[in-house]
Amino acid sequence: MSYDDQCKRQRALVASEFTQSKSQRYHALQEYQSRMLVSDLLKQPESLDSVIQYQIGSLIMRVVYGYRVKSRDDVFLNNMSEAMHNFGEGALPGNFLVDTLPVLRYVPSWMPGGGFKKTAKEWHNVLNKAGWGIYNWSISNQETGQVLQPNLWGAHLDEGKPSEQKTFNLVWGGVAAVGGALDTTRAVVTKYFLAMVLHPEVQRKAQEEIDRVIGKDRLPDIKDKEDLPYMRALVTEIFRWESSTPFGIVHSTSGDDIYNGVKIQKGTTIIPNIWHMLHDPEIYKNPSVYDPDRYEGSDAAMKRVLDVAFGFGRRVCPGSHFAVASLYSIALATLATCDVLPALDEQGREIIPKAAFTSAVICLYQILKEFAGISIPSEIAKQIQN
Ligand code: HEM
Repeated sequence: MSYDDQCKRQRALVASEFTQSKSQRYHALQEYQSRMLVSDLLKQPESLDSVIQYQIGSLIMRVVYGYRVKSRDDVFLNNMSEAMHNFGEGALPGNFLVDTLPVLRYVPSWMPGGGFKKTAKEWHNVLNKAGWGIYNWSISNQETGQVLQPNLWGAHLDEGKPSEQKTFNLVWGGVAAVGGALDTTRAVVTKYFLAMVLHPEVQRKAQEEIDRVIGKDRLPDIKDKEDLPYMRALVTEIFRWESSTPFGIVHSTSGDDIYNGVKIQKGTTIIPNIWHMLHDPEIYKNPSVYDPDRYEGSDAAMKRVLDVAFGFGRRVCPGSHFAVASLYSIALATLATCDVLPALDEQGREIIPKAAFTSAVICLYQILKEFAGISIPSEIAKQIQN
């Protein structure tokens, strides 16, 4: 089987589990995890990033492997996080000189310029440990009841011992799903908190909508978004405002092509500029401003943003429905129960964070310390805490 076939099968595994309708099976889990996130934040508001990492990591490990993360020291979650961090470093075009000078591939690892080979070997070991470790756990626990259903591998491991080829695809399909989901979701969730701190007026409007449509007798669910147009705009604008994957994934052409009269040779590197598409001033007035009102309630305009934010064509993100639902559940859980506020300095003055982001394939918010103390419980949240 060729490399391309393997990639396609691994992608198909993820895509078939996270279609729009199948993703809904995870809504209750997403809502639960979001409420855990709010509850953790109320206890330790100064740890926003680590709370987000832990709760998002727990959610992803649960849906991909049926594995319940038990603590912040969880070895499977930490192995995955390390592997994904390495991937982020390696995938950034230009981070390694060999990307620019392919001839370095033939240089021994001990020679100047050949150091990337040693790094690649170390990262390969980390990735193997992450991918095979959780697979072996899953195989040993199929009968013990510890593997929770549904999950990405569920139906495939029910069918008896998988072939060698299928095992390979399950292991690396799982890693692809975690890799696609982990830091991307973490990035959009931190940006959501940043946007709320910077825009109290947006919070007020969303809270007013939730109170008016849902009331105060229950917490909103993901499906309530159908009745909450302002919340739909608020969430969509997070994906547009500061794209978490500004250049998508780097592709290369599998054959010669002609685009707009320009000949593109087979093997050409293609980097889609998602950030620019979502900041085109001819489409988005004042594109750098976070402004949910720019959609004027038009779901078609919101769809155009999501259609770009998750990439294109045959390689479009297969986890987009799940990802969008994750952000809805967190936004609804926080806004229905909390006011998201900036930290205070020693004199009690508000610290207004700057919107600064890391340079990477997945751009994270840079100065998370300024989030400390963001979340002040409203009346409902106080009840949750008691
Ligand atoms: C906010 C969250 C997310 C964002 C912004 C995001 C964005 C993207 C983008 C831009 C791509 C590249 C598409 C292209 O090459 O044209 C991608 C690929 C991918 N995403 Fe996501 N994603 C997110 C969440 C997820 C989740 C939750 C999963 C899995 C459950 C996932 C799985 C994948 C996989 C497996 C690929 C590679 C697809 C392929 O190469 O064919 N992503 N994602």
